[in-house]
Amino acid sequence: MKICCIGAGYVGGPTMAMIAKQCESTMVTVVDLNQDRIDEWNSDKLPVYEPGLLETVKSARGKNLFFTTDIDQTIKDSDIIFISVNTPTKDYGEGKGRSADLKYIESCARNIAKVGGGDKIVVEKSTVPVRTAQMVKEILSSADNGYSYQILSNPEFLAEGTAIADLENPDRVLIGGETTEAGQQAVEKLANIYAQWIDREKIITTNLWSSELSKLTANAFLAQRISSINAISALCEATGADVDEVANAIGTDSRIGPKFLKSSVGFGGSCFQKDILNLSYLCQHFGLPEVADYWNQVVQMNEHQKNRFFQRIMEAMFNTISGKNLAILGFAFKKDTNDARESPAISICKKLLEECAHLKIYDPEVSKLSILNSLGIKEGDKRVHICNNAEEATNETHAIVLLTEWDEFRELNYENIFSQMQKPAYFFDGRNHIDPTIIKEAGFRLFRIGKN
Ligand code: UDX
Ligand code: ADP
Repeated sequence: MKICCIGAGYVGGPTMAMIAKQCESTMVTVVDLNQDRIDEWNSDKLPVYEPGLLETVKSARGKNLFFTTDIDQTIKDSDIIFISVNTPTKDYGEGKGRSADLKYIESCARNIAKVGGGDKIVVEKSTVPVRTAQMVKEILSSADNGYSYQILSNPEFLAEGTAIADLENPDRVLIGGETTEAGQQAVEKLANIYAQWIDREKIITTNLWSSELSKLTANAFLAQRISSINAISALCEATGADVDEVANAIGTDSRIGPKFLKSSVGFGGSCFQKDILNLSYLCQHFGLPEVADYWNQVVQMNEHQKNRFFQRIMEAMFNTISGKNLAILGFAFKKDTNDARESPAISICKKLLEECAHLKIYDPEVSKLSILNSLGIKEGDKRVHICNNAEEATNETHAIVLLTEWDEFRELNYENIFSQMQKPAYFFDGRNHIDPTIIKEAGFRLFRIGKN
């Protein structure tokens, strides 16, 4: 059995590393157009920071796991092809700012059709709008090359920062396929791969469209919980209730459950916003404007939360931060990843820069280039200084703005840090991450989410 995965990103790389590790007799090759990315996957400095990933990659790389830019030959030689390329929100034309841009998926399908090489199973791994499999199918059958193709949907549910644990022991694996005999055989073939380390009961099979829609729905539900608790955080700040106490109280109801109720400066990442906008666009497209508005509100609330946090910084600092130095602790959209896509840090920092603040930014894993690109500024711009550690970032600043819940921020000596800052010194905890007593005892004026 030979597997090819097109796209060596945050999903393709870790997922294929896990399949290769668990299925020693399966040859897994990950291909990408980006030579630098492939070179990094072949080195000890992987392009994706993820706890446990390097060890997993090393356990199989060179044996049954390979990374290459030789796309066509790998496709030709493979029995199963995973499409794991990016599907960003469209930034042009019809559906701009809402619909998913499927140009990368389409170009993969065209390439698979072009190179031929035998019958194949093509698996959608990337999150896609419902009925994308139809497009892939039409492109593949138009090749008219005598080979038969089965299209499966197998969305990935891993969360960044915990990818290895999620892949090793997932809540479920979802496989959607056509209800024909050939379709069901293809589903079975893919299920057999996962069954090498995952219980059969956890492998759910559905029709293609249910599988495609389930991924969008799962992300929409998860994001909705965060927007719901963030909406309540605003009311907590106005009334003296404490959002963590409210979350704890409601989370003990087994019908609600305790997870994904952590109020924060807002959700980020490459999936939630993109998938909800896409879901909402689909609803609009299918003549369901009320349903579209309902889901759209989850994104609106997230924008509102980021804006509220920024407003709080402004108000606390006398509505003027022009020329002031502010320390930004954390830039990734969550801890344990080097990914800053859609991170709340981006919009907060941009707003602070519009107010002419100077930012000293430190993140343990996000690269300098990625931070500067996210903010749309060039190296050497005097308004932003990227620091090598938290002490450097906080020195001589008026305020600390904590935006990512990295463990190491809990270990800092805040008394020392406070002594090197301009007074009065402020601490804005966008994740309610640091013990408030430590911050207050150090002398800071503390501001948290959903708490007075
Ligand atoms: C998400 C889904 O969890 C995953 O199943 C899907 O495959 C991809 O999208 P990811 O975006 O990697 O995964 O991370 P996740 O842990 O879901 O966090 C997303 C954002 O929500 C982060 O910015 C995180 O800080 C925020 N969040 C999460 C909260 O603000 N509060 C919470 O309670 C949980
Ligand atoms: P994700 O978070 O979904 O994994 P990434 O952006 O991290 O998304 O990774 C997607 C990868 O897919 C990128 O490395 C990109 O270069 C690659 N890619 C996009 N289109 C193609 C294509 N037609 N052929 C090969 N690789 C592609």
